Amino acid sequence: MKAKITVNKKFPIAEIDTRIYGGFVEHLGRCVYDGIYEPEHKTADNLGFRKDVIDFVKELGVSIVRYPGGNFVSGYNWEDGTGDKSKRPKKLDCAWESIETNQVGIDEFQEWAKRAGSEVMLAVNLGTRGPAEAKDLLEYCNLTTDTYYANKRRENGFDKPFGIKTWCLGNEMDGPWQIGGKSAKEYGKLARNTAKLMKITDGSIELVACGSSFYEMPTFGDWEYTVLDHAYNYIDYLSVHQYYGDKGDTTPEFLARSVDMDKYLKGVAAICDAVKAKKHSDKTINLSLDEWNVWHKNPNYNEKWEIAPHLLEEVYTLEDALLVGCMLMTIQNNCDRVKMACIAQLVNVIAPIMTEKNGEAWVQTIFYPFMYSSLKGRGEAMKTIVKCDSYSTAFANVVPYIESSVIHNSEKREIVVFAVNRSLDEDMLMTLDFDGFNESNIVEHIELYSDDIKATSTKNTQGVCPAKRHVDEKFKSTTHTVTLKKHSWNMITFKY
Ligand code: AHR
Repeated sequence: MKAKITVNKKFPIAEIDTRIYGGFVEHLGRCVYDGIYEPEHKTADNLGFRKDVIDFVKELGVSIVRYPGGNFVSGYNWEDGTGDKSKRPKKLDCAWESIETNQVGIDEFQEWAKRAGSEVMLAVNLGTRGPAEAKDLLEYCNLTTDTYYANKRRENGFDKPFGIKTWCLGNEMDGPWQIGGKSAKEYGKLARNTAKLMKITDGSIELVACGSSFYEMPTFGDWEYTVLDHAYNYIDYLSVHQYYGDKGDTTPEFLARSVDMDKYLKGVAAICDAVKAKKHSDKTINLSLDEWNVWHKNPNYNEKWEIAPHLLEEVYTLEDALLVGCMLMTIQNNCDRVKMACIAQLVNVIAPIMTEKNGEAWVQTIFYPFMYSSLKGRGEAMKTIVKCDSYSTAFANVVPYIESSVIHNSEKREIVVFAVNRSLDEDMLMTLDFDGFNESNIVEHIELYSDDIKATSTKNTQGVCPAKRHVDEKFKSTTHTVTLKKHSWNMITFKY
């Protein structure tokens, strides 16, 4: 099988916002407790955070982390997670039917994020609470005034404000499962009023309003339009969430899901622009894909009202890593509109990083495409002309056998090509034509491959690991041909 990709130096899509390499930490299952936080662990730091986990998060290069939910936030009182830990209440978490000990809250999490090298994206509760409590939390986090909540923060030992710039106005408020879920009109008004109050409190913040929970929500489209119609002038981003994996797909269908995501992202951007036009506005609303991943929704054992139960602990295969790689390329290729994206989640819960209580931490297959994309996918994403065979599925007419993105880093004089060969039985000869660039040479080809597409990487079996392919560094040209193995993920770096 053959593919040809042409890129012209003069035609970028846009500069990548590095916040597309974000993550998500929710009070859910073992993401926080026994995940990022385990005071008795041998690697725990002075705040009880596991250093082995922090090291993996740093390796991923996670730029921003959404916190504390997710569905959890819609029943959460942020005050419970502040101040003297011995006095914090244990509460029912009705979103996940667990017990929340509140030993980690914003006081600790903002410090964890610093230690992990990330910024915080903080979600406010618009399920059981409203604008007033959102404003109080913002005052607590960001203000230097001599007022009640800013002083509370000082009393709790934080003289300097946390300086949190990005705020989510609730979570998946269109979802019937959401505590305090709302109609588009109700939420649109609530988002506007909350945004108004928050921006008066701190004019430097950026606000993300809820879009649909996923593309196939029956209210998709109408929801976005109505919410934007109410809140357009007060918000900065619209949130998009998308997981793939629970639909009984065959492998070719599953690997084609990123094509569906491309359609979804472009569709939401078009709705944002329709409202912009209707309002004669000069302001563009961009997208925050603040939950995305593969999630097969395997049932987990869960007794009601446990502390840190084993929930949503997916074991990922090579096939999953290929789709995660394709989704990352789709995000890069939509970087003119997608300015933030958070893989959901980071640790234990549908996660690239896994931990064992009192034991090891390890990484799953999906860790690798994320890590390399975050490491090398910085610069300008380039427009590409891709010629190759394609197939079709019920939800996508044209699925090219190759998924790709090309990133130009002018400072490093590097062109980085990410590519997945979706063919299950044929290698792909991929020709790259770098139009307008000086001659380049290939310096590295990293490949993720196993003969068994269902292979996993677990604590005891690192069945899927990236490997360096042999490259001929001496060959210089503006055209290169590279072989991509069947069902493989690849990152190829050229220097010019
Ligand atoms: O990430 C798991 C859950 O998925 C989140 O809590 C929710 O927002 C989404 O439905």
